[in-house]
Amino acid sequence: MQILDGRKVASLILSELTNEVVLLNKKNVQPKLVIISVGENPASALYIRAKQHACKKIGILSDLLKFPENLTTEALISTIQSLNTDSSVHGIIVQLPLPKTISTPLVIRAILPKKDVDGFHAYNLGKMFLSTEFEDLAPSTPSGIVRLLEHYEITFEGKEVTVVGHSNIVGKPISVMLLNRNATVTICHIYTKDLAKHTRNAEILIVAVGKPGLITADMVRSGVIAVDVGINRLPDGSVCGDIDFLNVSKKATFITPVPGGVGPMTVACLLENVVKSAKRLNI
Ligand code: GUN
Repeated sequence: MQILDGRKVASLILSELTNEVVLLNKKNVQPKLVIISVGENPASALYIRAKQHACKKIGILSDLLKFPENLTTEALISTIQSLNTDSSVHGIIVQLPLPKTISTPLVIRAILPKKDVDGFHAYNLGKMFLSTEFEDLAPSTPSGIVRLLEHYEITFEGKEVTVVGHSNIVGKPISVMLLNRNATVTICHIYTKDLAKHTRNAEILIVAVGKPGLITADMVRSGVIAVDVGINRLPDGSVCGDIDFLNVSKKATFITPVPGGVGPMTVACLLENVVKSAKRLNI
């Protein structure tokens, strides 16, 4: 069994990005990411800190705009519109989840697709359906998973892949990306009748649900490549994924740890999108 080391692969990506930022600086371009956060959410605060820390490490400017829980959809959209036209800003992300009183689809639609470095705008998501060449500003968690597996020379063509979780952020886009790479993709979700039947069929199993211990060893085939996107905080303060790591790792050929697997890759791919966007907005 081999660990898919997201920290190591992410740091390789970040060091390449550092060089690209230096080149942009020489052209008087200073890449900048603006992160919008509404209300208080401890998990979001943690993710935002990780993104800002990584930005700082590689020379990307990051601004955090924090708003109170009672912000209106209209006020948030108007903030986004002013960032859309601000030429010093290359990437805009709105940390999700937003408070229930705010319309997430309307807010995401307001982001200029060229600055949508999370890849959540319908324009960027829709383009991904065409082929790998149109995965332009792709969502960073799915990109991170593909990059991590590619680093370990894991191929997708013809593979049986089961994705558990059908969110717009992870499950749906990773399914499309793997379909683009000619995998046979099965997507499972809360309404799936016999989850274990599908997970046992998987040569590559990707789990993005947010339920600790959802995938047990009896639910995977021997030799599985297991990718755990879950980040769950247990009552004792420790963090774990959706896969029973201890027991599934005994049957796996490759497995991602939590923490240190997909999480760091997500951050690295987000920053890659910021650099891509900064380059393109300054051609
Ligand atoms: N919430 C959970 N994951 C993400 C992400 O990748 N981007 C944003 N903006 N919010 C999230």
